[in-house]
Amino acid sequence: MLAMSSEALVVPSAPENTPTCRPLRLGVLASGSGSNFAALAEAIAAGELAAQIQVLIYNNPDAFVAERAKQWQIPSVLLNHRHYPNRESLDAAIVETLKAHEVEWVVMAGWMRIVTPVLLNAYPQRVINLHPSLLPSFRGLRAVEQALAAGVKITGCTVHLVEEEVDSGPILVQAAVPVLPDDTPQTLHARIQVQEHRILKQAIADIAARQAQRS
Ligand code: GAR
Repeated sequence: MLAMSSEALVVPSAPENTPTCRPLRLGVLASGSGSNFAALAEAIAAGELAAQIQVLIYNNPDAFVAERAKQWQIPSVLLNHRHYPNRESLDAAIVETLKAHEVEWVVMAGWMRIVTPVLLNAYPQRVINLHPSLLPSFRGLRAVEQALAAGVKITGCTVHLVEEEVDSGPILVQAAVPVLPDDTPQTLHARIQVQEHRILKQAIADIAARQAQRS
């Protein structure tokens, strides 16, 4: 039987992350605060992750993630979805921006838009998403609230490859987080986010290690 600490149980990851010859060129999509973006930027700056953030794309003009990009001197581009007639045209602008910044892998780190084949076909099997639940449970919006409403005793977070159906696709890394009796959406989400920062870095390290083995 698996033992679980009061903090979290992380399952599973590649056995060893070997150093890569060339950093993975990432494009990050984010809509809000950007704590996951910051966790990635910090790990890269500390030399813990063989990757580089080529560009941040954000869709809300006042998203705090834009401040974080400035702080880390990472190029950022605002693509406000309200200025595009449909999801496909927003995704076409995203792809153009990612290509212009020579992005190889796309990281949806708190990206609150549904993506279309326009993006997925431009980066086949190279778009990853972070979701605040143990998928396939609690897909879609307000996943933390959904978990509390369902009365589950364990929830968590997932990094997965993105497929067209919302919050679906092969799972890369998950972490379990116990739900405490007096949890509110805020307290539970805060503990989930601690694990998100960790598993997002882990998923990217695993991808970088696999890429290094191939090259
Ligand atoms: C994260 O908790 C992420 O799991 C969630 O948005 C938050 C962004 O936090 N994403 C989704 O709900 C996507 N369906 P951050 O802006 O502090 O990184």
